[in-house]
Amino acid sequence: MAPVTVHIALGSNLGDRTAHLETALQRLAQVPGIELVRRSAWRESALQGDGPPQGAFCNGVAELRTTLPPLALLGVLKELERQAGRVLPAPRNHPRPLDLDLVFYGDFTIDSRELVVPHPRWHERAFVVEPLQELGVEIAARPRRATPVVIGPPAELAAQCSQWLAGGCVLGLVPTMGSLHPGHRSLMEIARAECDRVVATIFVNPLQFGPGEDFAAYPRSLERDVELCRSAGVDAVFAPSVAQMYDPEFASHVAVGAAADGMEGALRPGHFAGVATVVARLFAISRPHRAYFGEKDAQQLAVIRRLQRDLGFPLQIVGCPIVREGDGLAMSSRNVYLGPADRAAASILVRSLRSAAHAFQRGETDRDRLVARARTVLATEPRAAVDYVELRREGDLALLPPGKVAGGRMLIAARFRDGVRPVRLLDNMSLHEVVDA
Ligand code: PAF
Repeated sequence: MAPVTVHIALGSNLGDRTAHLETALQRLAQVPGIELVRRSAWRESALQGDGPPQGAFCNGVAELRTTLPPLALLGVLKELERQAGRVLPAPRNHPRPLDLDLVFYGDFTIDSRELVVPHPRWHERAFVVEPLQELGVEIAARPRRATPVVIGPPAELAAQCSQWLAGGCVLGLVPTMGSLHPGHRSLMEIARAECDRVVATIFVNPLQFGPGEDFAAYPRSLERDVELCRSAGVDAVFAPSVAQMYDPEFASHVAVGAAADGMEGALRPGHFAGVATVVARLFAISRPHRAYFGEKDAQQLAVIRRLQRDLGFPLQIVGCPIVREGDGLAMSSRNVYLGPADRAAASILVRSLRSAAHAFQRGETDRDRLVARARTVLATEPRAAVDYVELRREGDLALLPPGKVAGGRMLIAARFRDGVRPVRLLDNMSLHEVVDA
């Protein structure tokens, strides 16, 4: 193989920093197939991003010529990190004796599970850019990737996902309708921890809104949402227009059965068919290994689990815990529409759920008495107009017969009407959830 010019970034902030960097370069130069051409001066920089308190880094860039293929070179770099005392896999942004990143491998572009070159964030880091300039590297001509990449056309998302899948990546999908909050962020962080590449989708899906519902008024904030996705480590944001998602000929719909009966399904006819249709389409476009949904929308989660099983999508549905405000209110994009008095009153939902769970844990096992318990607490808040309170089987949310229960999930929906516009809030809780007395 003809030698390729390669640039690597070196960093250390633990122990004798310059000794770690110099030793790494000496060892590199001894590896057959690697020639050390030159290096930049070492310079100091603080940690970029979040991490525990730690000392400043000593950084620089080295230029090599190598006949080693990219993955073999990566293996050498990892081995040198290990020899310097770094424990791999290393926790993110923790102090480290040696960090070696492959920045450029000639003009090659690689985006696989093991390696991404050019390094995805090289251009955001002064401690890489300045040494490259010092070495006379033409940085203006080098590719730089926007992270996350924002994609509109479904065919482009499909092509991007195919490339990642072909590179052996485990792909995670986080479908959302945008107006992102810490609840969404937690889905992305769970996906980030479990997958090599994470795609978040931001699409206010008209199919799941009924006539007179808030489709037009649903909060939209793409720029802010992309920023949240970036900070949560998302690799691609899929934000198609309605016309891109559903072309004028679009005519197929996914019908959902018993999982969509009752509760939200009864109050919002056609809602879950709209959800199932868009989710099936997102699965088909991106073909993820895992898809992440919040447990706050418990009936939606049950519908999607049914859909995945019935249609045989080869992926895992991951339900993620509800994220709550300080007073217990479940986070939701619609909370912004609550007026101040309704906002204060809205924690009645979680308080009534906790009361029922508490009663169950102290020995009350009668289905109807547990429901009545939650209703009694809800009735203390005149601002909440209750749509339903139901105790359903855990998981598939099937109806439970009257009488004794061994557990279950209680689901509540209530309307509040004194804010910018009327808001319906949902919440749910397992009877086994540990709650304060
Ligand atoms: O939960 C949501 O935000 C939506 O219902 C979903 C799953 C993204 C489908 O549009």
